[in-house]
Amino acid sequence: MREQVLVLDFGAQYAQLIARRVRECKVYSEIVPYDIPPDEILRRGAKALIFSGGPSSVYQEGAPRPHPDIFRLGLPILGICYGHQLIAREMGGRVEATGVREYGKTDLEVVGGSVLFEELPLKQTVWMSHGDSVVEAPPGFRVTARTAASPVAAMEDVQRKMYGVQFHPEVVHTPLGMEVLKNFLYSAADLLPSWTMVSIIEQAVEEVRETVGENKIICGLSGGVDSATAAVLVHKAVGDQLTCVFVDHGLLRKGEAEQVEDTFRRHFHMNLIHVKAQDRFLARLKGVTDPEAKRKAIGEEFIRVFEEVARELKDTHYLVQGTLYPDIIESGTRDAARIKSHHNVGGLPEDMDFTLVEPLRNLFKDEVRAVGEELGLPEEIVWRQPFPGPGLAIRIIGEVTAEKLEILREADAIVVEEVKRAGLYRQLWQSFAILPDIKTVGVMGDERTYAYPIVVRAVTSEDAMTADWARLPYDVLERISNRVINEVRGVNRVVLDISSKPPATIEWE
Ligand code: XMP
Repeated sequence: MREQVLVLDFGAQYAQLIARRVRECKVYSEIVPYDIPPDEILRRGAKALIFSGGPSSVYQEGAPRPHPDIFRLGLPILGICYGHQLIAREMGGRVEATGVREYGKTDLEVVGGSVLFEELPLKQTVWMSHGDSVVEAPPGFRVTARTAASPVAAMEDVQRKMYGVQFHPEVVHTPLGMEVLKNFLYSAADLLPSWTMVSIIEQAVEEVRETVGENKIICGLSGGVDSATAAVLVHKAVGDQLTCVFVDHGLLRKGEAEQVEDTFRRHFHMNLIHVKAQDRFLARLKGVTDPEAKRKAIGEEFIRVFEEVARELKDTHYLVQGTLYPDIIESGTRDAARIKSHHNVGGLPEDMDFTLVEPLRNLFKDEVRAVGEELGLPEEIVWRQPFPGPGLAIRIIGEVTAEKLEILREADAIVVEEVKRAGLYRQLWQSFAILPDIKTVGVMGDERTYAYPIVVRAVTSEDAMTADWARLPYDVLERISNRVINEVRGVNRVVLDISSKPPATIEWE
């Protein structure tokens, strides 16, 4: 069983971040509901617990509390913010609304000789966000740090292995926060930094072997990092039992299909079925101009193609899915065994009877990238910006035609190339070209032209829920404009989209 630290989520903004930071300390960590039963904690092999922050007040009626027996398990516990106040209250200390809110960077004064602040400076900056304060530590606890407004900003009872901090060690605004976490993990909880990329891969490979056995398994490749990493992991586990299916709908970026061939067939020697279905998708998209109708048409056609391939691979009942840990946390379902939808490629039919294999279900995106790199996937795949399942079809406004696809693919390649050349590619969430359904007048040589404009869209974002238009340097924009107009036939103008989301969206359709 894997050693792990469980983060009990009391409704924190930062529960995911706590788990990620613990993993950055090379200790495996998962998020669980705050009311997890003690025997479940033991069953999972937890070696320590972290109580997250949360919006409630511990003395309020109905405030979330963990199962009382949790304190009797003898596991090391670290309480953060609300978690800190919770330990104080449950163990007999006093928590009050002092009327002084601490918010933002705060000076912390450490009392020497504490486990949590071992070898750390006695004065440091921490990040606070709280209204209530622990005003009196419980019996048996020692106060280990204070601030102007928090008389008990940190406390510990080494005997009972309970620790609390009012500040947030998990956020970057607490510069020594990672050191505090490490002291908790390595000193207080006696854990070893053993959760490395190599052990992640070994573990995942082991689990896939156990699930799949001698059976055959298929994996749909999209060209993105998740499905690619999942495929390589599964291949490492079960070799030729895996067949990858890559449906080229003709709506991909320049070089993407070749890259998939090259990587999976030639480099990794995998069984790869490359379905060249460009004409089929184009025929299906004929006359379709409405954005949602395009998505639907592409999604349905994709299902047909995939079904046909799956039927050929008759005795295959396992399907690789690139689900990530945040999807699992958000959906709240831990054991969805039968397929309902395939969000990467627009939905597979409900009556396909596959058992899902999700080798990335415990990983965050940055961990998937690290695994991908470790397994030898090329940089272009590991660091590729997100790309919508319906592909270029929703970046061509109006009807999708072969001619327009050609124009957009070339223009898009130039945008990406110049952004990469300027060293900006990884800083941007997405950077791409759009082809609107209009023509404008220009003059080239002595000739009047009547041709398409290309829109440059580049955004920064954390999660695509909100986005800001990227301030690309003028010289980068100049090179993009010159090159697109000179090199792409059918384009005589380049414009820049300077809208943020909301109220705009990242894509134009
Ligand atoms: P919007 O345009 O809604 O896009 O701001 C947010 C993010 O989602 C991607 N996107 C899609 N991805 N199928 C997908 O797989 C789609 O139909 C789709 N539409 C938008 C978009 O690229 C951005 O990252």
